[in-house]
Amino acid sequence: MIGRLNHVAIAVPDIAAAAATYRDTLGATVSEAVEQPDHGVTTVFIELPNTKIELLEPLGADSPIAKFLEKSPSGGMHHVCYEVDDIRAARDRLVAAGARVIGDGEPKIGAHGKPVLFLHPKDFCGTLTELEEA
Ligand code: CO
Repeated sequence: MIGRLNHVAIAVPDIAAAAATYRDTLGATVSEAVEQPDHGVTTVFIELPNTKIELLEPLGADSPIAKFLEKSPSGGMHHVCYEVDDIRAARDRLVAAGARVIGDGEPKIGAHGKPVLFLHPKDFCGTLTELEEA
């Protein structure tokens, strides 16, 4: 059911420093930082030949990644995102199999302007898992 790895998201305390690391040390193509107030994060996308890395810095008082950075102050891998053809069909299949969808279960428009859902890490090998309709 899952398709391509769309991105790996890394939460960071300082997105400018993280972007500089990817651009200058790792030699990657790095986007400008974009504030996403609806999602409580600032994002930078790093284009790799086969996938993307999404850097996330908390934005605002109740950012969904604030707790994560309290536990991992220097940053760390936050989630992986897999592409699916039909996000509602994927959700229904996963819920029928006992997986938990985070939130109200309805897809939201994600940072790339496409419908996304997040699945509970306890159901997926300890890894917060995002599905994006590609
Ligand atoms: Co993501």
